Amino acid sequence: MNEHDSERIAGLLEADGLTLAASPDDADVVVLNTCCIRENADNKLYGTLGHLKSAKAARPGMEIIVSGCLAQKDRDLVQRKAGHVDVVVGTHNVHRTVELLHASRASGPVTEIWDEALDEAEAWPSALPVRRDVDHSAWVTIQIGCDNNCAFCIVPAVRGREISRPFAELVAEVERLAADGVIEVTLLGQNVNSYGRDLTTSLRSESASALDATRAGPVWAADAARRPRPLFADLLGAVAAVEGIGRVRFTSPHPKDLRPETIAAMADHPEVCPHLHLPLQSGSDRVLAAMHRGYTADRYLARLAAARLAIDDLAVTTDIIVGFPGETDADFSATLEVAAEAEYDSAYTFIYSPRAGTEAAELTEQFVAPDVVAERFERLRVVVERSALARHHARIGRVEEVVVEGPSKRDPSVLTGRTAQNKLAHFASSVPLRPGTLATVRVVGAGPHFLRAELAEVLAGPRHRTRIPVVAG
Ligand code: 5AD
Ligand code: SF4
Repeated sequence: MNEHDSERIAGLLEADGLTLAASPDDADVVVLNTCCIRENADNKLYGTLGHLKSAKAARPGMEIIVSGCLAQKDRDLVQRKAGHVDVVVGTHNVHRTVELLHASRASGPVTEIWDEALDEAEAWPSALPVRRDVDHSAWVTIQIGCDNNCAFCIVPAVRGREISRPFAELVAEVERLAADGVIEVTLLGQNVNSYGRDLTTSLRSESASALDATRAGPVWAADAARRPRPLFADLLGAVAAVEGIGRVRFTSPHPKDLRPETIAAMADHPEVCPHLHLPLQSGSDRVLAAMHRGYTADRYLARLAAARLAIDDLAVTTDIIVGFPGETDADFSATLEVAAEAEYDSAYTFIYSPRAGTEAAELTEQFVAPDVVAERFERLRVVVERSALARHHARIGRVEEVVVEGPSKRDPSVLTGRTAQNKLAHFASSVPLRPGTLATVRVVGAGPHFLRAELAEVLAGPRHRTRIPVVAG
C-alpha cells in the first residue's frame, strides 16, 4: 500500500515537471514515504534524515518531503526533530504534496496533517497521476483505512476509518489500466472482505438511485432482493471480467470476514490467482482474543480448509506475530501447531513491536523477554520453511505459466517470472524476454522462497507499449 502511495507521489511530482533522479545524492527533491507499523521504521526515518542533513548542507537547494504513516503519527515532531525537512504531509492529503512543496518554497517549512479524509474523491491514491515502475502490473486501492481494532496495530490510528471506493469507478479504472496494456491487477485494502460495508446505509433506501448503482455496481443493482451492500466477491468477478486482465490478486482478507462468496468467486474465475494471503497473527485462542482478532484457530483452519477444497491448487501465505504481550510457551506452541497444519507456502513473521497509542503497548508488564522472542521466532521460521520447501518440491515436474518480471537479482543471465500462485520462478532463456511476457516454464528445482525452472514456451509478448525514456534538457 505504501509503495502504491509512493507511485502516486512520484506521479504528482512528475506532473509538476520533475523527473526521476538516479539516486538521492543528485535529487533536487527527496521524498521519504514512511511506514510506522513497527518500531524500526521510526528509527529508519530519523536516521535517514540525519544523513540527508549533511547532503542538504552541501547542496542547499535540495528539498525534503516526509510523507506517509509516520508523518501522520509524528506530525510537528518531524520538523522539530529535523528542521531541514521542507514538507511534512500526512496520509489523508497526499494529493496536496505539490501545493505544499510550492508553499514551502514561498514561505518556509510546512507541516500539513489532516485528521481524516476530507475530500473523498481525492482520498484515493488511484485517483491521482501515477508513475508505475512496472508496466504490466498495477495496484488498485479499493478501500482505505481500517475499522478493526487489533490490539497491536497502529494502522487505524494513522489511516483512519474504512472507506470503500465506488464500484463503478474501480471497474472503470481497471478498464483503463487494461487499455494501457496492464495484464495483472492487485486489489488493495486493509480488510478487503469488508469492501462495501460502509456503503450499506445509503443502499438500504427503498428507491435505488442511479448513483447507488454506480457506487455498488451492476450485480448489486440487478439483484431484486437488494442485498444491503455489494460484496467483495462481486468486485472480484467484475474485475476478472475486464478484457485483457489475465491475473487478479488481492491483499489482504481478514480471516473473520472471509465469506464463502469470496472463495466461490476465486474458484469460479480463472483470472483470480490461486493465492490466498490469510493473516493468522497467532495460533493461540487466548492470544487471538487478546488481540481482538475475532476468530479462533479452529475457525481459521476451517475457513482455510474450505478455501483449499473449493479452489484448485491454492497457495496460502500469512502474517504471524511472535511475542505478543503475555504470549506463553503454550500459546507459542499453539502457533507452531497451527502453522504446521496450515502448511503455508510462505509467511511474513514479525517480532511484536509496541506502538504507542495501541492497546497492547500498555501491557508493559506482560512484554515477553527479547531472548525468548528471538528463540521462538527462529523455531517458527523453521516450521514455515519446512512446509514452504515441501510445497515447492511438490511442484517439480509441473509446467506453470509465468509473467516475466525481468533479470534475476542475483544473476542477470537468469530471468525471473511470477507464477499464478505468486511464486518466483528463476529460469534461463537464450532469448531476452521483456517484462510482461507470458511464458510457460517447467519446474526443475525448489528452495523455500523460489522455484527453479526451464523455459518451455513463450506464449505472448508484453501488451503494454514500451516506454522510451526521454531525457530532459
Ligand atoms: N508488531 C509486529 N507486527 C505487527 N504487524 C502489525 N502491527 C504489528 C506490531 N505492532 C504485522 C501484522 C500485520 C502485518 C502487516 O504487520 O502481522 O498483518
Ligand atoms: Fe491492523 Fe487489524 Fe486493521 Fe489489519 S485488520 S490493519 S492488523 S487493525
